[in-house]
Amino acid sequence: MRRAGRIVSDLLKLMEKEAKAGVSTKGLDEIAEDFIRSQGAEPAFKGYYGYPASICASVNEEVVHGIPGKRVLKEGDIVGIDVGAKLEGFFSDAARTFAIGKVDEENKRLIEVTREAMNQGIRQAVEGNRLSDISWAVQSYAEKNGLSVVRDFVGHGIGRNLHEEPQVPNFGKAGQGMKLVQGMALAIEPMLNLGTFEVEVLKDGWTVVTKDHKRSGHFEQTVFVGKDKPEVVTG
Ligand code: MF3
Ligand code: CO
Repeated sequence: MRRAGRIVSDLLKLMEKEAKAGVSTKGLDEIAEDFIRSQGAEPAFKGYYGYPASICASVNEEVVHGIPGKRVLKEGDIVGIDVGAKLEGFFSDAARTFAIGKVDEENKRLIEVTREAMNQGIRQAVEGNRLSDISWAVQSYAEKNGLSVVRDFVGHGIGRNLHEEPQVPNFGKAGQGMKLVQGMALAIEPMLNLGTFEVEVLKDGWTVVTKDHKRSGHFEQTVFVGKDKPEVVTG
């Protein structure tokens, strides 16, 4: 998982460089698939329940699971890039949201608060805490900063499968759910919105968008629960 995680984090750095105005999301997907395979790994998303690509590219009001296509990124957009790699039977999964060229203050804040909400959640991934300590850390930070938290999609356990138990919601009161134990592997992935937390799925069966079409941010890391501090596998 650490080696798969390194491939994922290296790829996200490459995606940050490549995600510029004028580039199509399909173009990013092609670069990503080539990179993953060049590292001896497989794209974890391709073929997963029929998903047709190696990355998810979710632009502006798209929350997650945007299918790469002809859409061309333009100055002022934000794009969430989510990638997973499978190496020798083990998975890692991570996402970042990038600004395309200059974006306004509201968009900058959306990106920074979403990243920090994820980090607040990650900080709770230590032995002795309960699962929902992560959830509450994310929700309270997000709402304190005026953003809403998507309910319909959640983080997840990860390891020999992309999605394993338990689900890791980004909302809920502290002190509930299973006790965390060193070595548990979790994908912590808040989706935060400027407007309503409500989302819907487009007719393509994948792309999740905000109901009010206001923008959304998404960050994700694969993390190992630690004795006194978490280990970020995709950092
Ligand atoms: N990180 C996303 C998730 O955990 C990516 C899944 S895309 C899919 O939901 F195609 F693989 F479903
Ligand atoms: Co995930």
